[in-house]
Amino acid sequence: MNKQLRKAVIAGNWKMNKNPEETKTLLNEVLPLVKDADCEVVACVPFIDLMAALDAAKGSNVKIGAQNCHWEKNGAFTGEIAAPMLTAVGVTHVIIGHSERRTYFGETDETVNKRVRAALDAGLTVILCVGEALEQREQGITEELVALQTKIALQGVKEYELSRVIIAYEPIWAIGTGRTATSEQAGEVCGAIRGVIARLYNQKAADAFTIQYGGSMNAKNAAELLAQPDVDGGLIGGASLKAADFAEIVRAASQG
Ligand code: PGA
Repeated sequence: MNKQLRKAVIAGNWKMNKNPEETKTLLNEVLPLVKDADCEVVACVPFIDLMAALDAAKGSNVKIGAQNCHWEKNGAFTGEIAAPMLTAVGVTHVIIGHSERRTYFGETDETVNKRVRAALDAGLTVILCVGEALEQREQGITEELVALQTKIALQGVKEYELSRVIIAYEPIWAIGTGRTATSEQAGEVCGAIRGVIARLYNQKAADAFTIQYGGSMNAKNAAELLAQPDVDGGLIGGASLKAADFAEIVRAASQG
């Protein structure tokens, strides 16, 4: 399979970290370090930081993303943000279905699917997260589970919209734990996801589809993970909060 058919994407998931002032500081550190990146670079920041991030990243090669959006365009949904609100301010990417949202905030495959479709309708690029818990890996159901999460999340998504969908394979047991999946484990599941895309759409769509690995990816292990034929990028939590480490991962992806 030819990696050159698809774009490498390194996205930072800042989670619930940094205020607007700190956002500017971190981005001002990151921007010069990644300016020559030969991959797409995204920073997904808390809602309250989006304006500061957009301002700091203006004119640079770094895109700004949110970490969630609601499926309705507007209405009585206290505490939620609609996809068109994100595009209205210049946000280009949104993470959907992160395991922390599934685990702590009752996100289901069905609500993930609604959010994916709303984000695509609004013109956003979606970083769709899938992944298994440790117990599920031990039960040997990882690939089936991830296939099901993928299929449900993509229901109603048209082939032409796939250029704005990225899937991040994030084994839950590897997130924030320092326990990374081996590059073989990451490559295997990312390959299985590509197979699901080929079956749902076609091989050409699958070959062009960007799949990231996420879960304790860092400056040290990024190159090995990204060398896997089906790993096209990374969704980076902890290491995205350290400019030098994030830049190192971007460099590793640029060489891939
Ligand atoms: P981590 O988080 O890199 O801190 O493990 C990844 C993620 O949750 O997206």
